[in-house]
Amino acid sequence: MFAGKKILVGICGGIAAYKICELVRELQRQGARIRTMLTPAATRFISPLTFASLTSAPAAVDLFAPSADDIEHIELAKWPDMIIITPATATTIAKCAHGLADNIVTATVLATRKPVMFIPAMNTGMWENPATANNVMRLHDFGYRVVEPEFGAMATRIEGAGAGRLPETETIISHVFQYQWPDKILDGVPLTITAGRTVEKIDPVRFISNHSTGRMGFAIANVAAAMGARVKLVHGPTHLRPPANVETFSVESARDMFEFTREHYPENGILIAAAAVADYRPLHYSCSKIKKQKDEFALPLIKNPDILLELKKLKNKSIHIGFALETNDVLANAAAKLSKKNLDFIVINNPVDEGAGFAFKTNKVKMLFPGGKILDFPLKDKLEVAAEILQNATRLLINKRATE
Ligand SMILES: Cc1cc2nc3c(=O)[nH]c(=O)nc-3n(C[C@H](O)[C@H](O)[C@H](O)COP(=O)(O)O)c2cc1C
Repeated sequence: MFAGKKILVGICGGIAAYKICELVRELQRQGARIRTMLTPAATRFISPLTFASLTSAPAAVDLFAPSADDIEHIELAKWPDMIIITPATATTIAKCAHGLADNIVTATVLATRKPVMFIPAMNTGMWENPATANNVMRLHDFGYRVVEPEFGAMATRIEGAGAGRLPETETIISHVFQYQWPDKILDGVPLTITAGRTVEKIDPVRFISNHSTGRMGFAIANVAAAMGARVKLVHGPTHLRPPANVETFSVESARDMFEFTREHYPENGILIAAAAVADYRPLHYSCSKIKKQKDEFALPLIKNPDILLELKKLKNKSIHIGFALETNDVLANAAAKLSKKNLDFIVINNPVDEGAGFAFKTNKVKMLFPGGKILDFPLKDKLEVAAEILQNATRLLINKRATE
């Protein structure tokens, strides 16, 4: 995700400082080169030695440390592709909002011309204080990105007290990923995506489902948000955390997924159906657990709504993209789906291909277009696959708008 990217992480004196170790590790796992700097207050919460050990590079702490070459904060300001300040404290936010440069972190932020993202964490009272709100507004005005803190449990142990909590590492990674995305080709475009599996209940303890984790759909939602789209993600049960800047709707059954997708249909935008929707559901739901019966047991099933087939009726200026997961007669089956559902293209993945399909972080896909054109891609990270899909969808949307 961040292969070759140089990221400078500035740690401030907040209780969430310990969580930044995990963030640094995760950024490194995703290919980033990390350097760190700490405010004097941050060193009261966590040792610079920890970050020096994690990054195999000195952690900068002293603005006035003697330096043989370039002055340290000037060198640090030039080095990265982007800077992350986290947990951004009320104090550091206030200082940066007013151009103070009194420690290694604030001096580097003031000196840099690189993109800077603040990820605050603090007590709700501090966050909601008009002074902080005003300072955050100033940071926005200066062109910095400030991530909204989350609601939830904080050090003070007052759950649900309000906003101020540092987002989970996965969410921060998604914010960083989207921030460093180079082009906003989908700026303001409505995009609705379905992802994951559906669950069709048989009785209170059993259900029909499949192995889909939602990874592919979530990756598309993440990249689409990075490209500037207004993303709505309708997803089935999953352990994945939703990407940043995406409106999510958590559903269970195919019928719910259909209803939500219809309700949030992307007029003049892009619809991507990446969910593995159950074709059938039990004809009858049993309110009590079905008891063991004879050796053979038949469960009558009834067809679920086909989301793309149903939404074909709404299709006017939007682009519709489907997914086909086939194990045999792959191209013929995908071509039949493409024309029956009036899709602009269909993404074919074969779960038998090594590293492709459910649960993997990679996928190997083909895109089939009306008229028979096929784009065949090698095994790629799902985020790269998502980018290919969205670039093709954007091209088609632009063409469609141009021919109106
Ligand atoms: C136990 C403890 C926890 C703190 N947690 C936070 C916090 O989460 N967010 C915050 O803005 N300040 C917090 N503070 C206050 C900061 O440490 C203080 O404002 C400090 O001056 C911040 O300096 P810095 O921004 O230069 O790191 C905390 C202080 C203490 C003693």
